Amino acid sequence: MAYVIGVDCGTSGTKTVLFDESGKVIASKTIEYPMYQPKNGYAEQDPADWSNAMINTIKAVMTQSGVSKDDVKGVGISGQMHGLVMLDKDGNVLRKSIIWCDQRTAKEVEEMNEKLGEKKLIEITANPALTGWTAAKILWVKNNEPEIYEKCAHILLPKDYLRFILTGEFATEVSDASGMQLLNVPNRCWSDEVLSALEIDKSLLGKVYESCEVTGEVTAEMAELTGLKAGTIVVGGAGDNAAAAVGTGVVEDGKAFTTIGTSGVVFAHTSSISIDPKGRVHTCCAAVPNSWHVMGVTQGAGLSLKWFRDNFCNAEKETASLMGVDEYYLMDKEAETVPVGANRLLYLPYLMGERTPHLDPDARGVFFGLSAMHTKKDMLRAVLEGVSYSLRDCVEVFREMNINVSDMMACGGGGTSPLWRSMLADLYNCPVKTVASKEGPALGVALLATVGAGIYSSVPEACKAVIKTDKTQEPISENVPEYEKYYQLYREIYPALKASYKKLGNL
Ligand code: XUL
Repeated sequence: MAYVIGVDCGTSGTKTVLFDESGKVIASKTIEYPMYQPKNGYAEQDPADWSNAMINTIKAVMTQSGVSKDDVKGVGISGQMHGLVMLDKDGNVLRKSIIWCDQRTAKEVEEMNEKLGEKKLIEITANPALTGWTAAKILWVKNNEPEIYEKCAHILLPKDYLRFILTGEFATEVSDASGMQLLNVPNRCWSDEVLSALEIDKSLLGKVYESCEVTGEVTAEMAELTGLKAGTIVVGGAGDNAAAAVGTGVVEDGKAFTTIGTSGVVFAHTSSISIDPKGRVHTCCAAVPNSWHVMGVTQGAGLSLKWFRDNFCNAEKETASLMGVDEYYLMDKEAETVPVGANRLLYLPYLMGERTPHLDPDARGVFFGLSAMHTKKDMLRAVLEGVSYSLRDCVEVFREMNINVSDMMACGGGGTSPLWRSMLADLYNCPVKTVASKEGPALGVALLATVGAGIYSSVPEACKAVIKTDKTQEPISENVPEYEKYYQLYREIYPALKASYKKLGNL
């Protein structure tokens, strides 16, 4: 039997899963690490935390499973997109990574628009200048920490830093590179025009591969530390969303998924490139050659629920630990006791600014309609509903772009919640399915590794062989019009606050 490994470098932790060639999980291990927020709107992580987590999780799955290293045919790496890792000429990390949800780069976004023009930027990179994306972060370091920029010899994304640690290669692949805003997305190569306008030297960037191509091999030193065999292939892998698409079989037109992780994403596959001229959703290269995807992103999805749990749900944490159940399971049960609309309480999940559809780094979270009758349970349900309204916003943009979605899957931590899935089904007014495997991104990149290793001949073939659908949540007909009323009200709140957010940001 052949085995493959998928590593997913997430925001809350790195998860490594060892699969057999049929996609069955043989062993899995996650190691968590912190996110640093030195200022309101800043978000950083330490690349050393990622590499230690990767090494130790690979070592753990190899030890737990007892699988022979000779039978592990390949490794795929996935991860949070857009983060900036800067290395000096000897491969040492120069500063903490500024990660995807950091919002410090409003000035640099203006600079990009001035230097290239908004229209041109969308034409080449398929996206408007975005505060969270890598190009703006590179300019921020250049403008604010010139002494660090001067020493910088290599720029990598989070998962590509892990590739460098595993293989010694400086490389990336098209899906994640699309989120750097330096790639010509229609042509799947670095854009000389963007690089020269922003005065970023191309030699700082890694070689661009397709996601299922082999990019290097595990070094002898890493083999020693991880228990893998030296020479094991490492494929391109993919940004976490493109990887989740492969892991849920979203590799054909008409297929889409919603993932609720730290961020929330609605993602649709498209075999011909489709760009929103208003830049509200992202268009990126897919992990399947010759195809792309469109995705809407809400910055604070699972993050909102985690924030609520960590600040208000100590009692639930204690009870869950006494009962031996997951704390999110208990929180779901509490929220289920509250009716649709949370007794007229709405929540805007903009804790880390917002992308789709507002593109506003200054937006912040809101509870709207708080009354003395509300309890923590109402607030909890409002958080779940608010994230769902924000995901519906993404679907509305797809509808405007005529992107036809006939098949919606749910995945990510939040996708395992029956209540959250039911809210999505009611708000999208379409069935929401799940896949049997809950491993989304890790499975996706493991499947890319099966293609790189020659076990399957293409990504769609690997998906056909491995991905099985599971439960389907149908919309509940009486909830649909009820949610619609709340959603329409939700849509009115951001425009009413837009100017006040800006003032708050300037205080
Ligand atoms: C996508 C995005 C997030 C991150 C973190 O554009 O920023 O989904 O990849 O998971």
